[in-house]
Order: sequence, then C-alpha cells, then structure tokens
Amino acid sequence: MNTKQLFIQTIGCQMNVYDSEQIVSLLKPLWYVSTDALDRADLVVLNTCAIREKAVQKAFSFLGRLAELKRKNPRMIIAVGGCVAQQEGRSMLKRAPILDIVFGTQAVGRLPGMIRRVEARRCRIIDVAVTDGVEEFDIPDADREREGASRFVTIMQGCDNFCTYCVVPYVRGREFSRRPGRILCEIEALVDAGVREVTLLGQNVNSYGKKEGLIPFEALLARINAVDGLHRIRFTTSHPKDLSPGLMSAFADLEKLCAHIHLPVQSGSNAVLNRMHRRYTREDYLEKVRRLRELRPDIAVTSDIIVGFPGESRADFEATLDLVREIEFDGLFAFMYSDRPNAPAARFPDKVTEGEKKERLQELLTLQEQYT
Ligand code: 5AD
Ligand code: SF4
Repeated sequence: MNTKQLFIQTIGCQMNVYDSEQIVSLLKPLWYVSTDALDRADLVVLNTCAIREKAVQKAFSFLGRLAELKRKNPRMIIAVGGCVAQQEGRSMLKRAPILDIVFGTQAVGRLPGMIRRVEARRCRIIDVAVTDGVEEFDIPDADREREGASRFVTIMQGCDNFCTYCVVPYVRGREFSRRPGRILCEIEALVDAGVREVTLLGQNVNSYGKKEGLIPFEALLARINAVDGLHRIRFTTSHPKDLSPGLMSAFADLEKLCAHIHLPVQSGSNAVLNRMHRRYTREDYLEKVRRLRELRPDIAVTSDIIVGFPGESRADFEATLDLVREIEFDGLFAFMYSDRPNAPAARFPDKVTEGEKKERLQELLTLQEQYT
C-alpha cells in the first residue's frame, strides 16, 4: 500500500495542538504521513478555534484557499474539526461545499473511521456528538515514536465555569477528568520514548478530578513528579478561584514543577469580574499571587486580560491598569472583548465601542511593555 499525504492546519490553543498530534498518530495505520506541501495533500485536516471572532475568520479564509485546490484535485479529502466545527455543525457543510467531514471536539477518536468511509465511497460525514463523560480514545503505539523532548498530555477536557464571555463550555462540553492511572501510563510511555518534559493540559486544571472524586490536582502532580526520567512538568491553564493552598505548595515542594504559572485575571475591577462570573475578587487574586511568590520567589506569573467587556467604564479599566502595575506580570496576553455565540455577555447592555476597545488595548500593552 502506498502512503498518502496528510496536511494538518491547527488554529487555537494547546488543546488543539494536542488533538492534532493525536490525529497524526491515529491516521498512521491508514497510511497517512504528514506533509508541509498543501498542494500535494490527499487529506487536509483543519483544526479550528472559536474563542474569538478573529480565529473563526482565520478558519474560513483557510477554507477559501482550499476551495481553489479542490477544484484542481477533486479527490482531495477535506475534514474540519475543533471548536468552530463543533459550534457550526451541519451549517458548516452548507457553508463550505468542499468539505467531506465535519468532526466535533469529542470526535477525534472516531476520525479514522470517518476517513475510511469517505475513501471507500465518497460521502459527506458529520459527527458533532457531545456526551457528558467523554470516551477515552486509545493512544496508539505509533504515538510513542514521535520525536522531541517535550510533549502535551491532556488531563481534562471541557469546562463547567460558564464565564459570561466564553464560548468554551458550549464547544468543548462538560468538564471531564481522565483517571490518574491512564495519565501516568501515558507519561511513563512518553518518558520511555525519550520525552523529558510534559505540559499537562486542561481548560481549568486546578479543578482536576473534583467532579469525579479523583485525587486532587496537587496529588496528581506529586505522582507525576515521582516518574523516573522525567525532568520537567508544566501545566496550563489555571483558574484563580480554584488555585488551592495545596496546589500553591506544590510549587515549593515539587522540584520538577517549572516556576511558571499562567493565571488569567481577565480584569482588575470587581464589578467587571462579577459580571464575567469569575467568582474571585481583585483582592483574592492579589493575595494568591503574593502567596505564590512567597512560596516560590522565582515564579513567573503570566496572565490574560480582556479589555472592553460590556459595561467596562474608564474607572474599571483604570483598576485593571492599576493591578498590572501592582503585579508586574512576566508576560501578558491582552484581548479586545468580542461577542461569542451562546455566551451570555453577547446580550449584555452598554457595549464598549470598537474605538474605545482599541485605545484601551494599546494603553494596556504600552504599560505592560515596561515589565516584559
Ligand atoms: N472576547 C475576548 N477575549 C476572550 N477570551 C475568551 N473569550 C473571549 C471573548 N469573548 C480570552 C480570555 C481567555 C483567553 C484564552 O481568551 O482572556 O483567557
Ligand atoms: Fe479555542 Fe477554546 Fe477551542 Fe482552545 S478550547 S481551540 S481556545 S475555543
């Protein structure tokens, strides 16, 4: 059997990067090998992100490019997955006639079957089913052959927090944590294959296992810390409300845990945090960062901030600038608020104008430049 060429385009967060890595492994038994040459691909997989409008536009503009290629090579199979696929579902097939497969965020494990069906008899397939407990797909042996000293490991999926600006709970489904045994097995296998650093992934790793009554996140970290041959552990992303004293202590106790935490604050104004449904105050956040620095003086703290959330006044924004001055983040990602389908804030009154959002973003970035 001849090999076939697979081109994967990944937009979005590390979750998507991880899913794309899994897809490469899962498709090896179907004789697909990765290529960088889009025009020679037999199969193109586009893994999409819906977190902000810009990311969605990126996905559709890539599909536009593919339309041209598919005219030249009608046998090319095109599959789109990830958060936009999940959000748009069937309407995606209508909007992009070139698509053969639309697969949702929980359908990655079923993709090989879908591709087999399309190869056998050209048909169009959609699978955007979401369930409460996500079935785990087996990590194929081929996965272990992949090179590189650093790898992602998903420990949980979905999100139950429902921050009012965020689309994630609607496109990634309910929170679900993998069993510690499965996670450790995967990490041990990676270490056997030469991996030295793992980054644990989840929308909110701090609440790992709570819902399922598994061990707490800091206990999982301690068990991973004990894996021989592993040198470094990182994790992302954290929610300030779930950053427990036990987890903070892990930064002092576990020598393999990197001295970095990405802790999105989103706003420095309590009124805005409240409307964002973040369930912590500015004071809580400052206190947690102070404690982290006390436990691990070399810790790097990075964050995300949204400017121009509905109803954000000049005074609210000043409070954010103030917090940035007080904390002196080691790195900051700043975004202009944008309405997302389903997210409640899309229906909130007192929208901030685009011009004002742009100005606030610039002001924030200029301030942060002094610290980064
Ligand atoms: N508008 C702007 N930024 C957003 N983020 C999430 N949703 C939105 C939105 N609707 C930002 C948050 C989050 C990061 C990944 O993206 O800051 O932490
Ligand atoms: Fe984007 Fe969120 Fe989906 Fe990641 S989980 S790809 S950030 S929408």
